[in-house]
Amino acid sequence: MKVLLVGGGGREHAIGEALVRGGAELYVVSKHRNPGLLKIAEGYALARETDVERVLAHAERFGVDLAFIGPEAPLERGIVDVLEENGIPAVGPSKEAARLETDKAFARHMMEKYEIPGRKHFRVFDDVSEMRSWVDDFGRPVVVKPLGLTGGKGVKVVGYQLRDNEEAKAYAEELIRRDGKVLIEERTDGVEFTFQVFTDGKNVIPMPLAQDYPHAYEGDVGPITGGMGSYSCENHTLPFVTGEDYERALETLRATVEAMRKEGTPYKGILYGQFMLAKDEPKIIEYNARFGDPEAMNVLPILKTPLPEIAEGIVGGRLKKAEFEKKATVVKYLAPRGYPADPIKGVGVEIREDKIREEGARVYYASVDENLTLLGSRAVAVVGIAGSLEEAERIASAGIRHVRGEVFHRADVGTRESVEKRIRVLKELGKEFEPNPC
Ligand code: GLY
Repeated sequence: MKVLLVGGGGREHAIGEALVRGGAELYVVSKHRNPGLLKIAEGYALARETDVERVLAHAERFGVDLAFIGPEAPLERGIVDVLEENGIPAVGPSKEAARLETDKAFARHMMEKYEIPGRKHFRVFDDVSEMRSWVDDFGRPVVVKPLGLTGGKGVKVVGYQLRDNEEAKAYAEELIRRDGKVLIEERTDGVEFTFQVFTDGKNVIPMPLAQDYPHAYEGDVGPITGGMGSYSCENHTLPFVTGEDYERALETLRATVEAMRKEGTPYKGILYGQFMLAKDEPKIIEYNARFGDPEAMNVLPILKTPLPEIAEGIVGGRLKKAEFEKKATVVKYLAPRGYPADPIKGVGVEIREDKIREEGARVYYASVDENLTLLGSRAVAVVGIAGSLEEAERIASAGIRHVRGEVFHRADVGTRESVEKRIRVLKELGKEFEPNPC
């Protein structure tokens, strides 16, 4: 089967590798040449992933049987609709269904309408004085969100990026003046986790849970990034997620898929629930309409079922299974110094792939070109995979020593200490649970 992959980051390198491992002939369209994808692709075209007409032209030229969409921006442009109108089935939601990610107000209203579990108090405002008096009456700390895609920027939380509700009101006012609307939600305290599922619009197949490290620096401080790393455990859950939490979160994702089907806009592809595990239940912070980056690198390397088979199941409405090895994974991203605000660009980075492999680790290339020049975003990920989290973390840390240049990473991703910190946060919030061994 000939598959077109759209996108050229670390997530897409992991998708491409899994497609090839499963027997697909790979073709890629992305805005830069990813050196890892370049090695395994039969054909590679350069284009902006959001330039839907050009992507279609490349898909037709390559004569692909199916397309796999990596990032969210082309989904927002309706890439799946355009490809399918031209006879190319695509893994990813239609433009309308992708609104679960691209329009945060739509997602919250959908949750309310279908009483999907994991809801939060929220309001959408277009009027400044109404917004101000609602925040005053609400009284508790809030989160202020632009409605559209923000690329990891734009969401601000009282107690973190905003000092108090006064600052929240000022920021919300700025967004109303800029965008016409703003979403305000209650702040939920807890620990975040990632739950990704495959779906064909009806059947929902879970992937192992993962935990992302969004802050730039060790100890969970510094600006929010696309994600500096992530881990998953060999039992496919997380130490602080109880069996009941897992079932509730899965029920949230199943109910969301069912709601989209009832709305007449079935959702197919990968649905990513970003959950906040609060004291009482997991609440949806956001939906994403694609694999996580880095979380794709936790789940795809341990996927046992061929990805092309899953892709055919998704587009054909007969998704059956996805099995994963019982392995722990730790992903550590290296990003250019100064990332995310002011990254160094245009200089080379040394990546000793042979040495990294000797350590037992894997490399996924991201925002570097074929000459290994830094392009400004997260550059390369090193992944450890093993029977235990400790061993996976040790392998990733050993591998990362063989990347040199103007880059930094978070040494604490997946360490016992950082996992225990997350368990402690939940215990301090009053959650009663016995941590799962991981
Ligand atoms: N790791 C967060 C995301 O992919 O959106």
